Amino acid sequence: MAKTLLAILALAAPFLLAAAQGEGGGRPERLPFAVGASPEGCDVGVGEWVRDEAARPLYEEASCPYIPQELTCQAHGRPDAAYQNWRWQPRGCGELPSFNATVMLEMLRGKRMLFVGDSLNRGQYVSLLCLLHRAIPEGSRSFETIDALSIFRAKDYDATIEFYWAPLLAESNSDAAVEHRLEERVIRGAPMDRHSRFWKGADVLVFNSYLWWTTGTKIQILRGADNDMSKDIVEMPAEEAYRLVLHQVANWLDANVDPSKSRVLFVTASPTHGGGKGNDCYGQKTPITGDEHASYTSRAMLKVADEVLGGSRSRRAVVPVGVVNVTRMSEYRRDAHTQVYREQWGKTGVAGKQEQSDADCTHWCLPGVPDAWNELLYWKLFFPAADDQAL
Ligand SMILES: *[C@@H]1O[C@H](CO)[C@@H](O)[C@H](O)[C@H]1NC(C)=O
Ligand SMILES: *[C@@H]1O[C@H](CO)[C@@H](O)[C@H](O)[C@H]1NC(C)=O
Repeated sequence: MAKTLLAILALAAPFLLAAAQGEGGGRPERLPFAVGASPEGCDVGVGEWVRDEAARPLYEEASCPYIPQELTCQAHGRPDAAYQNWRWQPRGCGELPSFNATVMLEMLRGKRMLFVGDSLNRGQYVSLLCLLHRAIPEGSRSFETIDALSIFRAKDYDATIEFYWAPLLAESNSDAAVEHRLEERVIRGAPMDRHSRFWKGADVLVFNSYLWWTTGTKIQILRGADNDMSKDIVEMPAEEAYRLVLHQVANWLDANVDPSKSRVLFVTASPTHGGGKGNDCYGQKTPITGDEHASYTSRAMLKVADEVLGGSRSRRAVVPVGVVNVTRMSEYRRDAHTQVYREQWGKTGVAGKQEQSDADCTHWCLPGVPDAWNELLYWKLFFPAADDQAL
């Protein structure tokens, strides 16, 4: 083991050196954390789900102590388990190395990795802890949550993997973990210091934000830095508010992240398969196949994220943002949501009602789809494509 690892790290060293030296404009020649590259034109988010009972799931639900009650589907009576047996196979990317917990931990030695976003991002965070924790002896890892921040420590590696709850990224009066106050929500349009002071100094930053912008109504934005929430409020369409806040995130990144040392990744929209009575995920046991896949995601919102953080940005921005595009791959997976097999706010699907209208078609069972998102993240971080490094 040690030998291969050393070889990988030795391979990485010159790149890291080059990255540390940077270019005139501060942009690194090689992205930090890169140990190799995906083939040109490879988009790891494009491909297909392959049934693979031998290789999936990557861990057992009961073996991972970090999965919250909202995501333990088997423990809450889900009768089928086939949703755990699908492996994501990118197309046109050659043979990418598979996710390896030891390699990842070694790369994170002495580092701080931070996820920032909503409950879907937290699901991905938990999935990563499940993927990594078995490579760490029980006595040398710990996990704690203080307010909006959860911290997992891998002590032997002097590494932390953290999650910071900020579903809109910007500050709002609905940030509280339990009481979301969707109806009277006001979002602060000014710089995001209250949240972002926790983000400073992260070596790997993985953020998302989409779901909370899709409530279907106009969004209230508080302009200026005034503390009086009743003053200077403007209403705008969700896309415009989303654009404004993503721009602020981008500006914050350019001002606060050192691109020669840190890596920033943005995880795109996680699709919801219907809502209310028409919950398309209810009772589903197989993915949608081939081209019959329907769109479950707002194209307008996707376009905004693409314009602000995607390809066009990378050419002029100080800090490149790697896009982990989970949208299309997840749209196929109507079968992998928690449905009614979960506990939320003290209510259990099994003990309580099990009607279609109660189904959660937004969140994902673990193990499941978020594990595949982390495989994408692994490739984006360690084997970025040439496009990710566009300088
Ligand atoms: C992970 O990588 C280490 C070091 O390169 C290697 O020894 C080990 O076999 C790999 N594990 C898996 C499951 O491939
Ligand atoms: C992610 O993929 C979707 C679907 O293929 C696409 O519409 C969207 O523009 C992509 N997003 C980004 C930020 O690249």
